Amino acid sequence: MVKDAVLALLEQSRGKVISGSVLAQQLQVSRTAVWKAIERLRQQGISIEASPGGGYCLRQEDDTLTVSAIKSILHTKQIGRQIVIIPQTDSTNALLKREYADHAHGFTLIAEAQTAGRGRLGRSFCSPAGQGLYCSILLRLALPLAQLHFITIAAAVAVCNTITKACGFTPQIKWVNDILHQNKKLCGILTEASIEGETGQVAYTVLGIGINVCGSENFPEELRDIAGTLADFTQTPPRRAVLAATLLCEVEACCTLLLENRHDELLDAYRAHSCVLGQKIRVLGDGTPYDAVAGQINKQGHLCVRKPDGTQHILSAGEISVRL
Ligand code: BTN
Repeated sequence: MVKDAVLALLEQSRGKVISGSVLAQQLQVSRTAVWKAIERLRQQGISIEASPGGGYCLRQEDDTLTVSAIKSILHTKQIGRQIVIIPQTDSTNALLKREYADHAHGFTLIAEAQTAGRGRLGRSFCSPAGQGLYCSILLRLALPLAQLHFITIAAAVAVCNTITKACGFTPQIKWVNDILHQNKKLCGILTEASIEGETGQVAYTVLGIGINVCGSENFPEELRDIAGTLADFTQTPPRRAVLAATLLCEVEACCTLLLENRHDELLDAYRAHSCVLGQKIRVLGDGTPYDAVAGQINKQGHLCVRKPDGTQHILSAGEISVRL
């Protein structure tokens, strides 16, 4: 499509003016076709300035999430090689499973907004338009079911690396998969798997990641004290396309550690980002909640805790809160 090709060229020279005739020449189309493409891109909400001399410029600060914008900085081999961006869906994880489950490893679905964003333990994930990055990545990693939680561990490390690179501050991980900064949750991760009935092997995994980028003033009342956004902690939050490309690269790097059986390196990075080790915590599992002290994260990625009576417990899943 001419529209996508025009956008790709503007993206390559973001912030600079390219004349309409150069665009037309490079794409071997008429100037009218270029003009029509620019109009369509503007209708999509993309901020393109026209200069008096007949040139066009994709504004530096335009934050529209487009495949062109992400691909212009993406340098992965597999993750995000195919990306679909949609304006709105119920949940990117649910939609990916419904309609894209036959796609290749690394296929990525991004929505500008989710009407029923899903969190762990049946919770919802607040996903207003234009204020976050809501994406689901299809992973075809040959992992036994017992190792599935390593994908969540890999994703948590990938998100921390992404925020460090894109925002200049380093968040922490609250076991298992909440990404926090100054005690505010910036990101949630939801890993869902499809299991082959006969073999019990994981057929594919959907890795859902939601990052709050800006707009904490619009959070519903019940989230105000517990959730935050990147913009709360950095003067210039990254463009969402930059954030998405960085995230896809980091997810690929962490998945590579898994595939190469370098679980120890992954766990070391995970431990280094953990905000729970040595802390007093409250364990909120299926049974009665209890107080404990978080000890280590063991080689399986499980959290070892010690109750006040001295007994040790190993948590493989569930929920904890950190007692301040
Ligand atoms: C949590 O905090 O418990 C996990 C939240 C995960 C949210 C992301 S947003 C993209 C993907 N689609 C969903 O419906 N959920 C995940």
